[in-house]
Amino acid sequence: METQIFTKENLDIAAKALQQGEIVSFPTETVYGLGAIATSQEAVLKVFEAKGRPSDNPLIVHISDIQQMTSTVEEVPEIALTLAKAFWPGPLTMILKAKPGIYAPALSAGLPTVSFRMPNHPLTLELITKVGIPLVGPSANLSTKPSPTKVQHVFEDMNGRIRGIVDGGSSTVGVESTVIDLTNEEGPVILRPGVITKEQIESVIGPIQSSVTTKTGEREIPKSPGMKYRHYAPKTPVLVVEGAVESFTKAIQEAQNNGKTVGIMAQNAIVDAVESRVKGIYKMGTSVDDMNRSLFDALRTLDHLELDIILAQGAPEEGVGIAYMNRLKKAASTVL
Ligand code: TXA
Ligand code: MG
Repeated sequence: METQIFTKENLDIAAKALQQGEIVSFPTETVYGLGAIATSQEAVLKVFEAKGRPSDNPLIVHISDIQQMTSTVEEVPEIALTLAKAFWPGPLTMILKAKPGIYAPALSAGLPTVSFRMPNHPLTLELITKVGIPLVGPSANLSTKPSPTKVQHVFEDMNGRIRGIVDGGSSTVGVESTVIDLTNEEGPVILRPGVITKEQIESVIGPIQSSVTTKTGEREIPKSPGMKYRHYAPKTPVLVVEGAVESFTKAIQEAQNNGKTVGIMAQNAIVDAVESRVKGIYKMGTSVDDMNRSLFDALRTLDHLELDIILAQGAPEEGVGIAYMNRLKKAASTVL
């Protein structure tokens, strides 16, 4: 199968292919998704197959109109509406109790719940509206690989496996949505951190729990099956370096003493200070938002250089740094 690149001009062809049960990748503000109509078991199974995704890991239903959520769940809690009003379209996914018999059974992976997100990308909102049916959309990478934030990343992993990719430019957020479970009896709980932070959510619905932090040794709740899998990992080993120039200088020296070729991904100032010493560099910008935006591209780009080790800058585990460290630690073999 030849994988076609779609644009705004031929979005109708992409919509038709989806209606016919084919797989088309779509852009979002977080990462690219692997789209298929959420009501077709056959189409949804093709998504699991294209990604090589374990069948016990459920998929998010992407909608363009809140009615697509409210009319397909058992009940609509008031806080779901409050959160939608505050954060949609945007990088927040809500888990609710599904009405049976509407969505493809495979997408829930045996759970009685369905997760929903309204992505903030004009082309994808238009695409979903044209299709007329919500789309499943796991990140459009091969299972275990870094998530895709550019068309080229999707093409690398999915060429020949899917009907097409809608080109919507580079993702602006760069890490996947915050996932919040609204079906938990003890109250809402964050299952996956994202750029919509616990504090932002609490500012609209009051105190909640976050069951998943990145602190070492902390237990990850098995309710979000996706969090237990190896993820985001390039072929090259990744080592997280906390601190600034001095820590990098030391880590580079140590790796080189062991005969290793080194690549670094860090904020611009650190890269500027140490670039003459290393084989590969990726400048991640000047803020933690920039680091989130460039994280997956940095991992993929440096992985192409066939280095022995990638040294990646850590970030303080607060605010949007929690999502960054959650992803980076899954990609990494060691944290210094
Ligand atoms: O930003 C995003 O959320 C991106 C873009 C494409 O929208 N999508 C994404 O999908 O990251 P995926 O499939 O790679 O990750 C979905 C996560 C997984 O960790 C999965 O286990 C969890 O959400 N999840 C989905 N439905 C769930 C459910 N009903 N109950 C518990 N966890 C669920
Ligand atoms: Mg994923």
